[in-house]
Amino acid sequence: MKSPHNQFGTRSYDRLSGVYQLLETIVFGPWLQKTRLAHIDRLQDAKTVLILGEGDGRFLKELLKLNPDCQVDCLDKSSAMLATTQERLKKKNIVTPNINFIHADALSYDYPVKSYDAIVTLFFLDNFKSSQLEELIPKLMHSLKHEGKWLVADFQQPQKGIMKYIGSALLWVMYRFFRWQTDISAKSLANPQPFLAKQLTVVVSKHYFASLLYSELWYRNDSAKYASTQARVSG
Ligand SMILES: C[S@@+](CC[C@H](N)C(=O)[O-])C[C@H]1O[C@@H](n2cnc3c(N)ncnc32)[C@H](O)[C@@H]1O
Repeated sequence: MKSPHNQFGTRSYDRLSGVYQLLETIVFGPWLQKTRLAHIDRLQDAKTVLILGEGDGRFLKELLKLNPDCQVDCLDKSSAMLATTQERLKKKNIVTPNINFIHADALSYDYPVKSYDAIVTLFFLDNFKSSQLEELIPKLMHSLKHEGKWLVADFQQPQKGIMKYIGSALLWVMYRFFRWQTDISAKSLANPQPFLAKQLTVVVSKHYFASLLYSELWYRNDSAKYASTQARVSG
């Protein structure tokens, strides 16, 4: 019988890789994908990109359409998710000499210093407890180039109206489900923003699904002013 555990001694997301898109569509329709792609155009010129927890490859496929020459490090702890991503690209005849697929745990990986023009974390930081984010985010910050940007999309707790209660209930169910099916250690949603805000500033932000979902682009504090002017110019 096949062990439910991977080489890291945990279950990771392997068993969800084949049904991940279906589950997402049943619960959120097109809104997660809209959130992922909300600011993808800002990566058009990025030469080196680190994608953490890419999942099943839907973001990477769009990134390569937009910016076929970018060099991507695509890191995920789930070998099945990495295989699903590779399969998706293969089906679309997208050749991947510039993609480095890395099967690793983001928490213990040794990141190259000042290497990336962009870091991408889409529905990834929500896997971690606040204490883990406090260690992981500064570590990643060292691998971001000085003028680098960080694209984040994730869940947040809506603060107003009926969605405050619906959002809480949905998040409660999702955490129970993912803790049952995978090895995530987070029991509830931690906020990555205070850790990102130590070195970065948000320049563009969009909210979806009555504010349960957000997408933000963060820049280094000293280059954020320029980037936010550019954001206004480009609408
Ligand atoms: C909720 S899925 C998000 C996938 C995708 N980014 C998306 O937008 O839907 C979380 C992804 O992060 C990966 N992941 C979770 N914990 C990880 C870790 N410690 N190191 C590396 N990848 C991890 C999972 O394998 C999975 O592919």
